[in-house]
Amino acid sequence: MTRGRFISLEGGEGAGKSTLLAGLREYIEQQGIDLVQTREPGGTALGEAVRSIVLDPAHRGLSGESELLLMFAARAQLVREVIEPALAAGRWVLCDRFTDASYAYQGGGRGQPVARIQALEQWATEGLRPDLTLLLDLPVATGRARAAGRGEADRIEVEADAFFERVRASYRQRAAQEPDRFRIVDASQSIEAVLRASLAAIAPLFEVSP
Ligand SMILES: Nc1ncnc2c1ncn2[C@@H]1O[C@H](COP(=O)(O)OP(=O)(O)O)[C@@H](O)[C@H]1O
Ligand SMILES: [Mg+2]
Repeated sequence: MTRGRFISLEGGEGAGKSTLLAGLREYIEQQGIDLVQTREPGGTALGEAVRSIVLDPAHRGLSGESELLLMFAARAQLVREVIEPALAAGRWVLCDRFTDASYAYQGGGRGQPVARIQALEQWATEGLRPDLTLLLDLPVATGRARAAGRGEADRIEVEADAFFERVRASYRQRAAQEPDRFRIVDASQSIEAVLRASLAAIAPLFEVSP
């Protein structure tokens, strides 16, 4: 059994991840590939419960340490319950955010030390990394304007622009450090152009491995 491929989508609020997921999913399934779509935090009963905690504005006082641990608790469950079994069964996994988001948000955004995140990554995911990560990159103000149309801001969306600038910078820095895994997509383009660029970026994954 050939192991499935693992693709993650990263980027700030309103970058267009959810929009792109639908287009990618449709294309991949048209190729006759069995696909599992999931998201972070979430994707399992535990993960969705964690999601509602971390996004709830009522938890304003959540410490950076608590937020980081909650994200990795959700991730540990998602890897074991959903991602690993799917990949082992030859299914592909398309995930709306993964560990890179912790480096960007809890690391860059909240200032949690990188060494701490690396240790948790080893522990929670045993080093599992996506085969390919699409980073939807766009100016913070553009993303904010798009996300504003979605209704009330969650606990993370209420952060100041400086927070999201640090998140964006962290994402770009990680992409530069791992050019083989990351593809940066200019998310300020039209929905169609973003999908086209993303399909071109994932094309090599369809080649049968030797
Ligand atoms: N390339 C694009 N150009 C213009 N608007 C977009 C684009 N991609 C997404 N949108 C719109 O922006 C909003 C946020 O998109 P969404 O996919 O929910 O972003 P994310 O999941 O990254 O937060 C939605 O209203 C969506 O329709
Ligand atoms: Mg989304």
